[in-house]
Amino acid sequence: MPALYKNAAVGVIGAGTMGAGIAQVASAAGHPVVLFDAVDGAARHGLDSVASGLNKLTERGKMNRAEADGIVDRITIAGAIGDMRDCALVVEAIVEDLGVKQQVFSELEAITAPDAILATNTSSISVTAIGAALERPERLVGMHFFNPAPIMKLVEVISGLATDDDVADAVFETAKEWGKVPARAKSTPGFIVNRVARPYYGEALRLLEEGVADAATIDALFTGAGGFRMGPFELMDLIGNDVNYAVTESVFAAFHQDPRYRPSQTQAELVAAGRLGRKSGRGFYDYQDGAEKPEPSSLPAAEAGASNDTLIALTDGRTANQRAMAEERPVIVYDLVYEDGPRKRIGFAASSDVSHDAINSFVAAAQSDGMNVTALDDTPGLVVMRTVAMLANEAFEVVHQGVADAESVDAAMQFGVNYPLGPLAWAERIGVRHVLGVIDALFDLYRDQRYRASLGMRRAAGVA
Ligand code: NAI
Repeated sequence: MPALYKNAAVGVIGAGTMGAGIAQVASAAGHPVVLFDAVDGAARHGLDSVASGLNKLTERGKMNRAEADGIVDRITIAGAIGDMRDCALVVEAIVEDLGVKQQVFSELEAITAPDAILATNTSSISVTAIGAALERPERLVGMHFFNPAPIMKLVEVISGLATDDDVADAVFETAKEWGKVPARAKSTPGFIVNRVARPYYGEALRLLEEGVADAATIDALFTGAGGFRMGPFELMDLIGNDVNYAVTESVFAAFHQDPRYRPSQTQAELVAAGRLGRKSGRGFYDYQDGAEKPEPSSLPAAEAGASNDTLIALTDGRTANQRAMAEERPVIVYDLVYEDGPRKRIGFAASSDVSHDAINSFVAAAQSDGMNVTALDDTPGLVVMRTVAMLANEAFEVVHQGVADAESVDAAMQFGVNYPLGPLAWAERIGVRHVLGVIDALFDLYRDQRYRASLGMRRAAGVA
């Protein structure tokens, strides 16, 4: 089924953060848009926020006035849900509550044309469950935008058990026409992004809890070495620790307490203390006036010494001490550095028998390459490698379970959360067998099911 015609009307229900953004996107693509909100004045407020956002763009010369005016003019405010009757597509972005969503879709089903597409922007409710209340659930599909909707490219197109493939295709093609990158997935907890991204927070929290490094240092490794736009702690503070924790809890509960998604006590404590992040003035970091941003820990300038017989190698998941025992010589393991990234930092750990001279030689060499060097506790898989391996493991599992294909998973992570590379492509670059070795080494040391490798990854590594 092709994309919607440009002149087809699009309805948006709920004019909050997401609904207003989605209305802007549909209108910018040329559709007449009907915006409805149950709360008096909320749709007007939503439209005003669209207008003021566009105003800023025109002031900065990023959009011409006529275009901005056109987008606002094509959005009309509906007085009642009945005003959606002529819409070819209605996107719902109301409160995240199954019963309320079912009620709204039942009302929509009664008034729209039989071939109108009904879409939900839910991020955590089963599309199958929402559709179960409909007489014709085949025309309900998930159309999951990311915040802010006008900027983030990804749209997850989610099929529930009953969703007609043609309906999902039409929404997929429409999202493309709207300038988005659509990725199809089956309705499963967290869909793609909110599931595959869990280790980005979860592993960072574990590393912090185990005292491997402080938050600022871990963040600096992810940005300076990993090439991520934001480190996990600054990102959790931006998202809000309450929101981030609730997503982790909901995915954990939906997967029946699978330890891969186990929430962190550290984050639970922050939430309990009201340290929600930027919005409350304090989270992992302090955002109050006059607060200083903590510096990541970096070693001072070093001079090369005699490096004797020390083995220097990329972490394979084993600790430096484990490797030193196996190799019968001192070992320095260094963390993953994304080659196409800023290459501004590298982390490492040394076995307890490494000489100061050998450490100085390693540090001096990295510094002469322009990198800051961070000494880490001798933890398995270090920081970036461990996390990228866990992201890839989750991505392999999503593909293995038929939730989405590899291309969709990688696109989702690049365009939904701005990862420098899709986790599957990244695993290919590192070598899938190497990444699998990291996961297996984590499993050996922790004996925690959290670190069990996906059969999909074992197969891709050619060992199963
Ligand atoms: P919001 O709270 O900013 O806006 C929700 C709006 O829906 C409010 O204006 C409210 O008055 C209205 N509303 C509530 N019940 C209604 C009803 N029965 N009929 C009509 N309007 C009603 O919420 P937000 O953040 O925009 O989220 C909306 C949906 O989008 C939720 O399902 C959420 O899970 C999902 N979502 C949110 C994202 C985010 O980052 N905020 C990202 C992606 C999805």
